[in-house]
Amino acid sequence: MRDFEEYIVFKDLIEEHILDFLPETDPKSSALYEAMKYSLKSSGKRIRPALLLAACEFSGGEAKEALPYACAIEYIHTYSLIHDDLPGMDDDELRRGLPTNHMVYGEGLAILAGDGLLTTAFETMNRDMLIYFDDPVKLKRRVRASNEISKGAGCRGMVAGQAADIEATGKSIAGGLLDYIHLNKTAALIVAAVKAGAFIGGAPKELLTPLENYAENIGLAFQIADDILDVTGDENETGKKKGADKVREKPTYPSLYGLKPSRERLDELTGNAIETLAPFYDNAEFFIKMAQNLVKRTR
Ligand code: IPE
Ligand code: IPE
Ligand code: MG
Ligand code: MG
Ligand code: MG
Repeated sequence: MRDFEEYIVFKDLIEEHILDFLPETDPKSSALYEAMKYSLKSSGKRIRPALLLAACEFSGGEAKEALPYACAIEYIHTYSLIHDDLPGMDDDELRRGLPTNHMVYGEGLAILAGDGLLTTAFETMNRDMLIYFDDPVKLKRRVRASNEISKGAGCRGMVAGQAADIEATGKSIAGGLLDYIHLNKTAALIVAAVKAGAFIGGAPKELLTPLENYAENIGLAFQIADDILDVTGDENETGKKKGADKVREKPTYPSLYGLKPSRERLDELTGNAIETLAPFYDNAEFFIKMAQNLVKRTR
């Protein structure tokens, strides 16, 4: 991922506020908070919250008003990574260039740190909705955003994809099932990020479908790039153990189709994503650059 100016601005805003919405620390449960903060503060790319903030601005809102939802989606994503790395799932030891959460805090606390981050995400969004309780227009936008995030993160989205991924591990599967896995475990939360931002920004109806199509295309592309990087990437850049998918017999694009067809599909999806926004090219620069950079990403 090569950084570009608009992305850096959003990323910096997220880094500055990423811990703002965590509840007050009770010393009696300090280990839980340490475990939550350990993963939250590690160097993620912050793609989902950046997309959420960008979609809010693109739709006519101010990025700052979407900050609680941007942080909430990064909390959910971070929880998903902690759980994804657990021995019962992908059993990984390295994440964002650091030992995985369970390697440092043990499995029990890692599970609870994930639970804590997931529930804090919903607390964060609910608290923001309460602020707008007497402003029906703004409240409705926020309820819609939270609804998208719930769907994308849950058992109709990411959790379903992760479950299908576990079931497919070690088996030979058809391309349709692989796309189902990737669209759910990864694209669903990316779609939710973009739609939530659009709702908070007050997007007119005609913007929603193109934005959704864009996000679904880059979402699938994102996971294909992740699969490719597992084979070709540099651990110092990805911050993850290289070759882990092959060792664990994970369902991936390169294992099913080979590297070259995987790269071609990645290019095709990126082209589709950019084309979807053609009517809005005048102010869709962030989304176009984001799509172009995700194809070339090395981390
Ligand atoms: C990793 O996501 C998990 C996938 C869905 C592929 P990212 O590549 O966005 O991870 P971070 O947040 O930058 O660490
Ligand atoms: C993970 O996919 C998707 C999640 C929802 C966390 P992967 O298992 O390929 O992600 P990495 O490679 O561990 O980051
Ligand atoms: Mg996984
Ligand atoms: Mg994994
Ligand atoms: Mg992976």
